[in-house]
Amino acid sequence: MKKIAVIGAGTMGNGIAHVFSQHGFPVNLVDLHPAQLEKAMGTIGKNLDRQVQKGSVTAEEKQQTLQRIKPVADLQSGVAGSDLIVEAVSENAEIKLNIFRELDQHARPDAILASNTSSISITRIAAATSHPSRVIGMHFMNPVPVMKLVEVINGYATSTSVTHTVTEIARQLDKVPCVVNDYPGFIANRILMPMINEAIISLHEGVAGVEAIDMVMKLGMAHPMGPLQLADFIGLDICLSILKVLHEGFGNPKYAPSPLLVNMVNAGFLGVKSGEGFYKYSPGSRELRVSERFL
Ligand code: CAA
Repeated sequence: MKKIAVIGAGTMGNGIAHVFSQHGFPVNLVDLHPAQLEKAMGTIGKNLDRQVQKGSVTAEEKQQTLQRIKPVADLQSGVAGSDLIVEAVSENAEIKLNIFRELDQHARPDAILASNTSSISITRIAAATSHPSRVIGMHFMNPVPVMKLVEVINGYATSTSVTHTVTEIARQLDKVPCVVNDYPGFIANRILMPMINEAIISLHEGVAGVEAIDMVMKLGMAHPMGPLQLADFIGLDICLSILKVLHEGFGNPKYAPSPLLVNMVNAGFLGVKSGEGFYKYSPGSRELRVSERFL
């Protein structure tokens, strides 16, 4: 593996480009919106500054990491010649399927096509291409430079050699790959989202308040964030869409999203990205204040 392309320069895409480049891989970061690419390069620079301050990266390594990332605003030229393409666009099945149809035309025939999807079926994505054996899930966790896990998802037709290559690459990124099969929510979100949903149901039923629910899980189970804060961090719209995938995929009512979650998403209260969810966020401040709606 020599050349990487990352499609999508949002939070996950910029984090994925950051770790590949930090570990020596030249990366094309592809996004159709030049402003998004500019913002992503700024974010990668800030996250590298944080690592320089902590002493885990030198100032020179920071510069080299930035130099190895090339922002490209065109898919065809961005993926040409890449050995591994990691798609990290927004979690929308139609958008992802269209991108994989395009990759099928423009990527090298032996390139590995990976998706960072958190819940869309890899088998379904692979079926949009003419070589489903080279399509695989490579699910990074947010924040990508910090979290050790890469959930590697085998689609129905993924070849063993592709799985082997991708797990090896994850290790080269200093991550720990865990290989799972393609069923709704894979493993990470099949277990995480019902916990988050149960926390929201408990809040809705008045069993406890926002801070108490989060504190129980932080102090009682050593989670770095409580489930409500984590839901805000992930984005309530993403949590809802993953719960819908579980609910529809298994046809089991135990996965039905909390009506409170549905209401909050419909109202545009999406967590950190919209400024308010279970907590209220002010730009530049690390203070965690419970939203007035839950006081
Ligand atoms: N880039 C680089 N480094 C970062 C970073 C970033 N974006 N964000 C945090 N860090 C580093 C900090 O520099 C710090 O480094 P040191 O340990 O060397 O000091 C470390 O991470 C901890 O950061 P902070 O001290 O600023 O803050 P914290 O201790 O509160 O930790 C956190 C922040 C790492 C986000 C922690 O709260 C945490 O682990 N939260 C849970 C995250 C989680 O569960 N992620 C998975 C979400 S699910 C998902 O992503 C998949 C899905 O499909 C929905």
